[in-house]
Amino acid sequence: MTGIDWSKLTFSYTKTNTMLCSRCIGGQWTPVESRTDDNISISAFAGGLHYAIECFEGLKAFRGKDGKVRLFRPEENAKRLQRSAKYLGIEAPSTEMFVEMCKRIVRENIDFLPPYGSHASLYLRPTLIGFNPQLGVQSSKESLFMMLCSPVGAYTGGTLEAIDVVIARNYDRAAPNGCGAYKVGGNYAASLYSLNVAHEFGYKAVLYLDPATKTTIDEFNSSNFFAIRGNSYITPKSDSILPSITNMSLETVAAYVGMDVERRPVPVEELSTFEEVGECGTAVVITPVHRLADKPFLESEEETVYTYGDGLCGEKSLRLYNMITGIQYGEIEDPFGWTVFVD
Ligand code: PLP
Ligand code: COI
Repeated sequence: MTGIDWSKLTFSYTKTNTMLCSRCIGGQWTPVESRTDDNISISAFAGGLHYAIECFEGLKAFRGKDGKVRLFRPEENAKRLQRSAKYLGIEAPSTEMFVEMCKRIVRENIDFLPPYGSHASLYLRPTLIGFNPQLGVQSSKESLFMMLCSPVGAYTGGTLEAIDVVIARNYDRAAPNGCGAYKVGGNYAASLYSLNVAHEFGYKAVLYLDPATKTTIDEFNSSNFFAIRGNSYITPKSDSILPSITNMSLETVAAYVGMDVERRPVPVEELSTFEEVGECGTAVVITPVHRLADKPFLESEEETVYTYGDGLCGEKSLRLYNMITGIQYGEIEDPFGWTVFVD
C-alpha cells in the first residue's frame, strides 16, 4: 500500500520501491543491480557532473482497462537514447537490455502503477551518465545507466487543461547545428532561464523559434509543437528539435483517421491561421494551448497574442488524444503494434 491519492498526482518525484543500474566499462555491462536507495555514490570528478555528459529518456507504463500493464513504444526510446549517447561519445545499453529493464522496473514498482481511470501513469526515466572520474573535456570511458520511475499525473494543471505559452524571441534553447535534436541534459539547462522568466510572467511553457533565422517554429522547452487547420495536422520540420515519439505517433494516428499530415518548416506568420494549437510529448501527452504571446523580449510589454479556442481542448486535438490514450490504456485495439505488455 502506497497511500497515494492518485487523483492528486502531478509531474513530480515520488520515492518508489527500487531503481535499477548497470555500469559499462570497455563495452561490458555489469549485472543489473536493483537498489532501494536512490542516493548513488559517484566520483565528484565524474564527467556527467562537469561537462553535462548525460542523456535521458521518458516513457510511461499504463494500467489498462483490461488490467494489463502496457508500455508505449519503448524500443523507440531505446533507439533515441543510443542516438544521444553516440552524440556524446559514450556507451549506451542495447535495445533488448533497455526494454528488459523497463519491464523489470515496472514489476518491482507495480504498487506505484496508478489504477486504470485515474488518468495517471508510471513514468520511467532511463538515465545515462558519464561515470568515471576525469578532468579533460572528453567523452567518458565509463557509463552508468539507471532506470528510475515515479508515478505521475498531468504535467501542467489538469488533464487537457489549456495553457498560455510564450515565444520569447530573445532566448534560444538550442544552437543552429547544435544538439537540439538530442535528448541531452544540457538542452534543458539551456532552457531554464527563459522558462523561469516565463513562469514569472504567468506562462506555462516557452515556444522557441528556429535559432538560425528566427522565422519558423521549433518546439517547446519540454514538448513538440503541433497545430490543426482544416483537416490538416501540421508540425515543424527542423534540425534543432527533438524527434518526439508522441508526435511521430500522432502523425500516424492523424493519417489513420483521415487527416492530412504536414511535417514542414512552419513560418511564424501561420500562427494566426491555425484553429487549434498544442504541445505534445510523453509528459504533456496533448496539452492544448489557449493563448500564445509572441514577444520580441520576454521581459517587455510588447506582444502579439494569438488565441485558440475557448480554453478547452479543440475537437480534432481531442480526437487524437482519445485515440492515443485509448491505445495506451487498452481502451481501443492497437492497430500499429506499439504496445509492449509487462507480464
Ligand atoms: N521535445 C522536448 C524538448 C522534450 O523534452 C520532449 C519530451 O520528451 C519532447 C519534445 C517529446 O518527446 P516524446 O514524445 O518522445 O516524449
Ligand atoms: C518527457 O516528456 O518524457 C520529457 O522528458 C519532458 C520533460 C519532463 C523533460
